[in-house]
Amino acid sequence: MADRRRIVAGNWKMNLDHAAAVELAKGVAAGAGKCGGVDLILCPPAVYLEAVAAAIDLTDGASPSGVTLGGQNLHDQPKGAFTGEIAPAMLVDIGCRSCILGHSERRTLFGETDAIVNTKTKAALAAGLTPIVCVGETLEEREQNRTADVVAAQIQGSLAGLSAAELAGIIIAYEPVWAIGTGKVATPEQAQEVHALIRQQLATLADAATADQVVIQYGGSVKPDNAAVLAGQPDIDGALVGGASLKEADFLAIAAHFAAST
Ligand code: 13P
Repeated sequence: MADRRRIVAGNWKMNLDHAAAVELAKGVAAGAGKCGGVDLILCPPAVYLEAVAAAIDLTDGASPSGVTLGGQNLHDQPKGAFTGEIAPAMLVDIGCRSCILGHSERRTLFGETDAIVNTKTKAALAAGLTPIVCVGETLEEREQNRTADVVAAQIQGSLAGLSAAELAGIIIAYEPVWAIGTGKVATPEQAQEVHALIRQQLATLADAATADQVVIQYGGSVKPDNAAVLAGQPDIDGALVGGASLKEADFLAIAAHFAAST
């Protein structure tokens, strides 16, 4: 196995208020030292990015604790008449280093296709952001034994046209839709199987050595009590955490499991 980084990101989605976001960010930054070897990313709602950046003493994209900031979405255009949207350079400007793209909630609720995710991924890279590209099958697709085909198509479509160097630097999050916010977590075997398949697909887009460098996170009801077995799988390099990332102790405990598995 390649010597990949371990990265645990908190997707706060549309939760918390200003005061709670600041408190949570401060708590995570204060506890980050106990998760040595794991990179922590916080992805708050966009309106709280600046407050969270201040709370973790972010300077030039880096905080003394090592915690970095990520967006939850971006627009593919650099500026213009796109009411309500956020340009990649704006995320960089406010201190973000990364951005979640193609989350299943954006795919299903906001109509994001692989082609749109592809355009956004390229825009993120052009702005210097690390894309966290999400893929994953629905329950229906899994029950129809279509998981491999669906995830392969999402990888091929979302990452088409990226160079090997660009691919090597991105993060992929495998988030089975049926596991998101449901309390149902993929078994370590189910997750590992899809992570290995994703790595094979990445090899077809570039080569095996490049695929070996890509950090692939698992997401979907990750909690402190299931993180250790997931972290023990050879192709699971981190987690994209929703609900449990809203609780400082749970988020840090999950990250600590990934630290222990390095
Ligand atoms: P939950 O951890 O709440 O299942 O959410 C996962 C997710 O969607 C992270 O992006």
